[in-house]
Amino acid sequence: MSPTGQRTISGSNLHDILLSQETHFNHYGGKPLPFACVRGHGIEIEAVRLTAGMGESLHLLDASGGYGSACLGAGHEVVRRALERSTTESGYVTDEFASLERARLLAWLFGEDGLWRDHFPAGEYHVAGRNSGSEGVELALRLVLESRFDHRRLRYRPGMEERNTILAFEGAWHGWTSGLLPLLNRRHYTMGLPGPAPLDQYGVRVDHIPFGDLTALRDYFAANAGRLLAVFTEPVQGDAGILLPPPGYLRTLADLCAAKGVLFVADEVLTFAKSGAMFATRDEGAPVPTDITVIGKSLGMGVLSTSMVIARRGLRVRQTGAVATSDLRPITCAVVHEGLRHIVTADLIGHSRELDARLSAGLRAELAERFPDTYTECRGVGVLHGVELSAAAASRAPALRECLASAGVYVEFMAGAGRRSGGLRYIHPTMRIAPPLITTLDQVDEIISRLVEGTRLFEKSS
Ligand SMILES: Cc1ncc(COP(=O)(O)O)c(C=O)c1O
Repeated sequence: MSPTGQRTISGSNLHDILLSQETHFNHYGGKPLPFACVRGHGIEIEAVRLTAGMGESLHLLDASGGYGSACLGAGHEVVRRALERSTTESGYVTDEFASLERARLLAWLFGEDGLWRDHFPAGEYHVAGRNSGSEGVELALRLVLESRFDHRRLRYRPGMEERNTILAFEGAWHGWTSGLLPLLNRRHYTMGLPGPAPLDQYGVRVDHIPFGDLTALRDYFAANAGRLLAVFTEPVQGDAGILLPPPGYLRTLADLCAAKGVLFVADEVLTFAKSGAMFATRDEGAPVPTDITVIGKSLGMGVLSTSMVIARRGLRVRQTGAVATSDLRPITCAVVHEGLRHIVTADLIGHSRELDARLSAGLRAELAERFPDTYTECRGVGVLHGVELSAAAASRAPALRECLASAGVYVEFMAGAGRRSGGLRYIHPTMRIAPPLITTLDQVDEIISRLVEGTRLFEKSS
């Protein structure tokens, strides 16, 4: 497949696409990408150019995995069948109404012999569904805040009044909703926008420490554990530039939380099914226990935006009689169930460890070592890899992205953690390579050779 091809789009479609670019707003800011997707299958995207060479088609390999959500690529037969079957026969009841699809999914994952019994022993956890990762983490925050209260009397449970602090990490990303803003320590993300009022008598404050620094973690707990309510962490920081904690860090964090009565919340929205295991909150092959785990993105198999909040049974929201329209509906459960079953039976998690080896070696040798003016470091695990840009390349990131697309590969850029405390170095924006689980080893090689070609184009144009 060559990256560029014949014009394939009609004038009226092109007109509509250009109009939609003016009509749609997003959070990215800056110039929208000068391409539009017209078709996709597997990890291949057919796009058209919207600026120079307008209408010309481009054949891209998707190294972003649909922003880390399309673990089975586009048009997967298993997903198509699940959607067809469930839309035909499963109904659309909401959260207060049990359904056979939900029952089958939850028994398979959380029953006595459930697939996830090692992480979430049967009978100890309960789950709810939400529309997106952000809403899932927001529900986790709600569970944390509610844990301070006696729900019947609506006042503090004994001893919880002084638990008024949440710990999060520098560079963290947890989502878009306003409740989550205080968990993000970057001024640019939060300035002037409302979060839970810290001065309210029931408010909480959020502290941030650098991610992955064991000394900073121990010092923080030694000084503050008595006022700590919860810790929120990504097991691998995504938006911060794919930052992995040192071995043993997550276990130490979980142990400190358990010893001090602090809730441990893992935001696995991004890492779910991407770290060479289903969950990244693990260590030397064994699960690290959490009080709440939130999963999303890949959970919806690229066709649904959905998330799941898995919490210890003692953690609840106050009962109001209101329903959540999207909570584990039958169609969602069918897609999740059949998609996950396929991931297990085809051993796509095992396959992702082979992809990991090929990606780690290829990105290091072919990008970081060959193009030191553009890239400084590669980091990653499973199908979640980052290649950090140099300061000079970071200032021209949109041009780099366009050159890569011209060479036939679609990637995303993460913000990077920026300035961190404790003498840790600045983390620049980072290219995220997170291809779907169905990617073949040959496709990984092709992605890397297109990244090389695109980087050559970029360096030539500098
Ligand atoms: C770690 C993490 N948490 C939460 C979110 C928010 O998920 P969503 O975009 O589905 O709301 C993301 C999305 O990038 C994420 O990476």
